[in-house]
Amino acid sequence: MKYQLSKSWVYIEGTDIPQNRLDIKDSLFIHTLEKKLLDKAYYKFSFELSSETLLNEKYFIDLHKKTFESLYEFAGVYRDVNMTKGNSQFCLAQHLHAQSTRIFEELESEKYLSRIKDDKSLFAQRLAYYQGELIALHPFYELNGRITRLYCDVLAIWNGYKPINYDSIIENEQYIQASIEAVQYADVSKLTEIIFNGLSKDEES
Ligand SMILES: Nc1ncnc2c1ncn2[C@@H]1O[C@H](COP(=O)(O)OP(=O)(O)OP(=O)(O)O)[C@@H](O)[C@H]1O
Ligand SMILES: [Mg+2]
Repeated sequence: MKYQLSKSWVYIEGTDIPQNRLDIKDSLFIHTLEKKLLDKAYYKFSFELSSETLLNEKYFIDLHKKTFESLYEFAGVYRDVNMTKGNSQFCLAQHLHAQSTRIFEELESEKYLSRIKDDKSLFAQRLAYYQGELIALHPFYELNGRITRLYCDVLAIWNGYKPINYDSIIENEQYIQASIEAVQYADVSKLTEIIFNGLSKDEES
């Protein structure tokens, strides 16, 4: 599935490969590199995490920036074009900043879910709500899915859980279907189930 992007400077003409600082034109190679950068980010951000860390909007944007800035100029930059995928319309560019601020203020008002962390079912429900909001926001030109999941994993770790296990879900269509329902119908029941099944307490924390 490709984006219908009207006037984007993001992709190398005629391809779905983003313009990149290393001038890589090979899709497989760039995916491998993205995976390496993401693995490094998981290590770095979980290592640096403390009870003092504020998982606010700046933190979320920094995740994208710090993970991918060596490769992409658009790292940490919110898009200024409208984007769709399949039949899903993501947040209109004109509302992006206001909606983003609203989501992170809501999360802050819920104390980043710390008050409900011991109720796994409720925790999964609220985390799925926020994951659905971020999927619908789709603020960056690329790598939204991976940064949204990284952010939710960091939030889970901060609350004493392990990173969410999405194995076997991402590979098949279930996660996409759950995303479609979240974006088009604000229905996060499938995302809730996926997150609930993938959540487990980190016994060492
Ligand atoms: N048809 C769709 N409707 C709504 N959301 C979708 C649809 N297809 C994909 N998504 C969501 O869009 C995001 C993918 O966006 P993007 O390609 O920017 O990120 P990515 O990191 O490259 O992707 P992925 O999540 O596949 O690793 C994911 O959160 C995914 O769940
Ligand atoms: Mg992508």
